[in-house]
Amino acid sequence: GKRVLITAGPTFEAIDAVRGIINLSSGKMGYAIASAASNAGATVTLIAGPVHLPKPAVQKFVSVTSAEQMLEAVKKEVDDCDIFISVAAVADYRPQTYEPQKIKKVNQPLTLELVPNPDILHYVAHLEKPPFCVGFAAETEKLDQYAQKKRQQKRLPLIVANLAQEAMGANESTLILFDDQGKHILPQAPKTELARQLIKHIGLLLEK
Ligand code: C5P
Repeated sequence: GKRVLITAGPTFEAIDAVRGIINLSSGKMGYAIASAASNAGATVTLIAGPVHLPKPAVQKFVSVTSAEQMLEAVKKEVDDCDIFISVAAVADYRPQTYEPQKIKKVNQPLTLELVPNPDILHYVAHLEKPPFCVGFAAETEKLDQYAQKKRQQKRLPLIVANLAQEAMGANESTLILFDDQGKHILPQAPKTELARQLIKHIGLLLEK
């Protein structure tokens, strides 16, 4: 079977000892894809940010917190993989500094300096010998346009687009796949079913 590396869930970017920046990703889609790949006979490594989900039955599970930790974990695992599916909702920015003590409240505006995080998928897709890379694009508008642009910029054979307001935290979603052949719609269904269809689609693309 193929060796599949998957990132899932959000990343958490610490501000101080008790606070941080996180987005609303539940990790459901990534975990469903990990299970579907495993059921299809793949050897799966799942690298996951903080989620409240039972650990799926995969060959290897790596738990991370921040985007930088996720990148380090991906670098360790990526050489051995044939397919990289980047489902994680990586935080675009992290606080420039981490305050180890709890920041005290004052009656003044507080300014947080944010710096951009590394783009993990961009890094993998631009390796000298990249695995087959699959990206996700959660958008609130202009789904086709933004997804196509990300597919091109990140150099991906396949990108999966969905509407953020519909997909976030939900058990069901609708997926729109963009590859060299064009656009394919996977109509609304449980994420577990969509994951199965996506894995099948990736299998067909790899046979070409
Ligand atoms: O955040 P963006 O819409 O660019 O995400 C598109 C794809 O890139 C997703 O598959 C996501 O997992 C990946 N990504 C990443 N590292 C980032 C930002 C996004 O791997 N820092």
